Amino acid sequence: MAALAIGARRSFNRLNYKSKLNVGERMRHQHFVCAGLTLALAALGIHGAVAQDSIKVGLIMPMTGAVAAAGREAVDGAKLYIAQHGDTVAGKKIELIVRDDASVPDNAKRLAQELIVNDKVNFFGAGFTPSAMSMAPLVTEAKVPSVIMISGTSVVTERSPYYVRASFTLGQQSGIMADYAIQNGSKKVVMILSDWAPGAEAGKVFQQNFIKGGGQVLDTLKVPLANPDFSPFLQRAHDLAPDTLFVFVPAGQAGTFAKQFAERGMDKSGIKLVGPGDIVDDDDLPNAGTTLNGVVTAGFYSAAHPSMLNKQYVAGYQKATGHRANFISVGGYDGMHLIYAALQKTNGNADANAVVNAMEGMKWESPRGPVSIDPDTREIVQNVYIRKVEMVNGQPWAIEIKTFPAVKDPLKAVAAK
Ligand code: PHB
Repeated sequence: MAALAIGARRSFNRLNYKSKLNVGERMRHQHFVCAGLTLALAALGIHGAVAQDSIKVGLIMPMTGAVAAAGREAVDGAKLYIAQHGDTVAGKKIELIVRDDASVPDNAKRLAQELIVNDKVNFFGAGFTPSAMSMAPLVTEAKVPSVIMISGTSVVTERSPYYVRASFTLGQQSGIMADYAIQNGSKKVVMILSDWAPGAEAGKVFQQNFIKGGGQVLDTLKVPLANPDFSPFLQRAHDLAPDTLFVFVPAGQAGTFAKQFAERGMDKSGIKLVGPGDIVDDDDLPNAGTTLNGVVTAGFYSAAHPSMLNKQYVAGYQKATGHRANFISVGGYDGMHLIYAALQKTNGNADANAVVNAMEGMKWESPRGPVSIDPDTREIVQNVYIRKVEMVNGQPWAIEIKTFPAVKDPLKAVAAK
């Protein structure tokens, strides 16, 4: 105990010598001073132990349940990164441990505890928003550097100073979508939103920008996350006669949405369908026929992104999984890149503060385009593209038509002002 206290104090002093601490460092520093739980002490013992030859990465993912598609995609992306880059970095063997939280946040918390105490993981890959939220206190107490691979909700990275986002935020895409819609003549919108945190955030940012641009929101319709039936909501939206429909559905639901949209004849109604990238998910697009043709979205990843790296990524992913690579898969792929690049920088040292410091400010080329980690917020900064669905060689693809470079999470940018 005494040794731990001295260690903590030394770390405290080291941080105090820094003339300017960024937000993450301050949070980690504050946490260090306040930490008192048994788990934190146990974990300090674990993570401060002798250097290991292997690095364990625990992915806690929704492999079954409401967002099972997202879990599969993130894990496939992470596995592809390891297959392409080898399973050794800075002399350490990378060991992936995948656990299914069944899209239930309480399970994620229990699994995180088990992985910390029994498996002594060095990193977590965190999955969808509710699970990332529920395991955050354990991540903080046990000081496990963790990469967010799926969640798109702004607040998540504020829940632990050891969270770094490799995925996206809904706000990043929805604000740009609203501005583009206004510029292209949209005046009256109905929003259809999956009824949980990312849906609320997509709607909030879209609405702010749409109203600021002189537009009007006629109604906001909320659809249950599990087993959604969009038909009654589409009927209601149709009856309100908007010129534009803004829709957020999570990964795995775009196919059902497109089918029900077409069944009501809404693809031919003249109402413009817009949204963040989720509505034209590349995992579902190949089966959408011509239903989504012409749909415009603001998204950070399209399998049609015309870079050499992305062509290789899409071909590799297709070969390994039989699916088209989508926006969730790049979160898993880039999440593994962050872990690899950080370990290279720290020379294999997996200490949480060293790793997160190494990740802050990191820049690299992703299949989605150039990305970086904002050193103040631990958020991914990335291009957002306006894309339009078109048939290419008999299949629908989201073709990029405009690029907004280096977009930050707008909700944090506002808070920082
Ligand atoms: C989330 O967990 O925040 C999430 C999951 C799937 C999506 C978007 C957001 O498509």
